[in-house]
Order: sequence, then C-alpha cells, then structure tokens
Amino acid sequence: MSTIETMQPLIILIGYRGSGKTTVGKILAERLGWVFLDADAVLEERAGKSIRAIFAEDGERSFRELESRILAELCTRSQVVLATGGGVILREANREALKSGFVVWLTASPGALWSRIEADSSTAERRPSLAGGGLPEIERLLVIREPLYQSCADLTISVETLSPEEAANAILAAWTFHSPKLFTSSPPS
Ligand code: S3P
Repeated sequence: MSTIETMQPLIILIGYRGSGKTTVGKILAERLGWVFLDADAVLEERAGKSIRAIFAEDGERSFRELESRILAELCTRSQVVLATGGGVILREANREALKSGFVVWLTASPGALWSRIEADSSTAERRPSLAGGGLPEIERLLVIREPLYQSCADLTISVETLSPEEAANAILAAWTFHSPKLFTSSPPS
C-alpha cells in the first residue's frame, strides 16, 4: 500500500512566462519545508550558459532536448517544488513526466503576463523571442499552449489578481486536501 510516508511528494508549477512560477514556488517550498528547484536555472547551470545563449548558439531544438532530459531527472525528486519553463508542456514525453507530481497551472491574461515579463529582470537572459516577441507572441502561443497546460493540470490558479502569497496559500490548501487521496492508492487491508 502506498501511503503519504512512502510516496514522493512533488509539486510542479507550469504556466506561461511571467505567470510567477519561481516566486510562488519559493514561497510554497518554504511553507512546506521542501526544496525549491527552478528547471531553467538547473538547465543553465548544466549548460554553462544562459538560455538566450543556448537559443542563439545551438538553437531552440537543443534547448528543448536539454529541457526534456532535465525535467525527467527532476521529476524523480521528492519533497520538491519544481518551477518549469513555459514551453515544457509542448512535448508529449514531458507531459508524461509531469504526471509524477501534483501539477499546478498558474494562468493569467496575455496583457497581465506581458506586463510581468517586461518588469522581470531575468527576461533578457532567460526569455529569447519565440515567435516575434511582445504581446502578439503571447496571444499567438497561448492559443496553442493553453489546451496543453489544461490537459496537464491537477489544479488551475488564476494569478491575474492574486499576490504570490495568496497564490501559494491557495495551492497549499488544495495540496493539503488532495494529498491524502493521492498517496493512498489502495484501501488499508
Ligand atoms: C520558454 C520559457 C522560459 C524558458 C525559455 C522558453 C517558453 O521559461 O524556459 O525561454 O517556451 O515559454 P519561463 O517560463 O520560466 O520564463
């Protein structure tokens, strides 16, 4: 029988660039007493260069390969809150890997996402243009990505008007409610 003591608790945050995965993830990890990991930061450390440099020198395909390898590895971790890159849901293999954790989709309108992306100091190094840039890029990519985020999500939180603390509280409440069910796969004998 699997119980909460023996299973590997893992909360995975997905969502478009600027949805607050890193900020919310750090708060959540601190509240749970877990480790926070940012898949993009792990990737940059392994590659020894920024995501912008990887895109420019090796191409997006190389970045996506590396992203998949790192995701598969990080999804085996336990007592971890994992923030993923916004495009992680694009590959089928990644969507499978996400099933090892409790997946939370942080969502907001294109306009709110664009304001946050513009205000974030990590944008220059972490967020190369994907399809022309700006608000039109977000609108275009969300049409493709939203159904994919939706299909992976165990929980969806609109962060449009929530502070990072409020979003973390909402996730924590859902996690507390869901986790006994998630970690009891067969009835006690
Ligand atoms: C990407 C999002 C970025 C980063 C890379 C690609 C995407 O992560 O992985 O620039 O395809 O949306 P954040 O969502 O953390 O900005």
